[in-house]
Amino acid sequence: MLVPIILLVMALLVLLWLSVTDQAIRILKERSGHPYDERGPRIARIATWGVVAAIVGIMLTPKKWFEPPPPMVATYVGDSLWAGMDTALIDHIGGGREDLVRYGRELIRNTAFYLGPQGVVAHQTNGMNCQNCHLDAGTRPWGNNYSAVWSTYPKFRERSGTNETVSKRINDCFERSLNGTALDTAGREMKALLAYMEWLGTGIEVKKKPEGSGLAELPFLDRAADPVKGEAIYTAKCESCHQKDGGGLMAASGTTYQYPPLWGEHSYNIGAGLFRLSRFAGYVKNNMPQGVTWENPQLTDEEAWDVAAYVNSQQRPSRDLSKDWPKIAGKPVDHPFGPFADSLPESQHKFGPFEPIAEARKKAIR
Ligand code: HEC
Ligand code: HEC
Repeated sequence: MLVPIILLVMALLVLLWLSVTDQAIRILKERSGHPYDERGPRIARIATWGVVAAIVGIMLTPKKWFEPPPPMVATYVGDSLWAGMDTALIDHIGGGREDLVRYGRELIRNTAFYLGPQGVVAHQTNGMNCQNCHLDAGTRPWGNNYSAVWSTYPKFRERSGTNETVSKRINDCFERSLNGTALDTAGREMKALLAYMEWLGTGIEVKKKPEGSGLAELPFLDRAADPVKGEAIYTAKCESCHQKDGGGLMAASGTTYQYPPLWGEHSYNIGAGLFRLSRFAGYVKNNMPQGVTWENPQLTDEEAWDVAAYVNSQQRPSRDLSKDWPKIAGKPVDHPFGPFADSLPESQHKFGPFEPIAEARKKAIR
């Protein structure tokens, strides 16, 4: 601010000086009988007023027009948990990608509106939103967030036995969690989801997983998770929203859920991540009942495992999993369908105790 003020004062002094000298010259000329040419001084005055106007203009223009856009940094430093970037920064992405990133975020939050049973773009998902499981548009610490997506893919995944791209991984959730069909990878919707994931990953080094990314890993119980105990927890702490039949509750709009279904024909299918007890327990422990966070959870680890056992014992859509886990030794301990690399029963692979399976797995890999 100081420089424009100094310039302004100088310009005003010049104006004063111009008018004083102009008067003096005119009087001298007139007295000596010489003609006085007004043009020169007038041009000088106009030019100086121009400078004054420009300086005032600059002083009045919003400061942000002169400042470089703020840096794209996620709100996490050192040992704090990643919580995404300020969405106001989307305005500064540049390269015309702002709208694509915004649309990607919108698709995560309101998937059903665009792609659900009554979707305005297509009808290819079960009516749930990505955000039902990837909370706060995929930015909540330990809320199944997307912080590590852009930095860790493409990567090899045992489930498919292939090197998976981000779009393949996104389509996995379309086909399993949303019990739907894959998006066209060349379409605008996939491009938007990718642009959003890329933007979320800004500033995260390749291969790095920020603290708080994805889901928490709860310690294994030393017993099998118990659906009977889980039912009591469900009735006390979940049923009020997700309903007695687990079918959730539609929002007033009728296009999506206020409380998404946990089982039944409109829920995730048996190939989804949440169908594994550890994923469900890790999600629920830090995020349910709605309103809790990792900082003030309500369920104990035991309760999270038991309610997972109850919910994942109910009916839900099926899926052909015959192509999954081509290497059976690569199956995670809580994948509930055989054949298995060890001789432990299928029920143990579903409910635990998981420690003996983990031990057998370690030996097999060694
Ligand atoms: C029913 C719950 C659910 C819904 C709905 C859902 N997902 Fe997922 N998603 C998961 C789970 C569980 C995982 C695996 C997390 C883990 O293994 O730690 C996952 C993983 C992912 C990953 C990989 C994350 C990583 O860091 O490896 C991406 C990308 C993803 N989902 C995108 C989507 C998109 C896009 C949608 C909406 C079209 C969606 N998901 C809907 C439950 C869901
Ligand atoms: C106060 C209402 C409420 C209660 C109580 C509640 N939930 Fe939820 N739950 C929600 C809402 C809302 C979402 C979707 C979150 C979003 O979209 O931001 C959700 C999402 C979920 C999801 C992921 C989406 C899906 O449908 O699969 C699971 C799993 C879940 N809740 C399990 C539970 C369990 C288990 C309990 C009991 C321990 C519970 N919830 C209690 C409101 C509730």
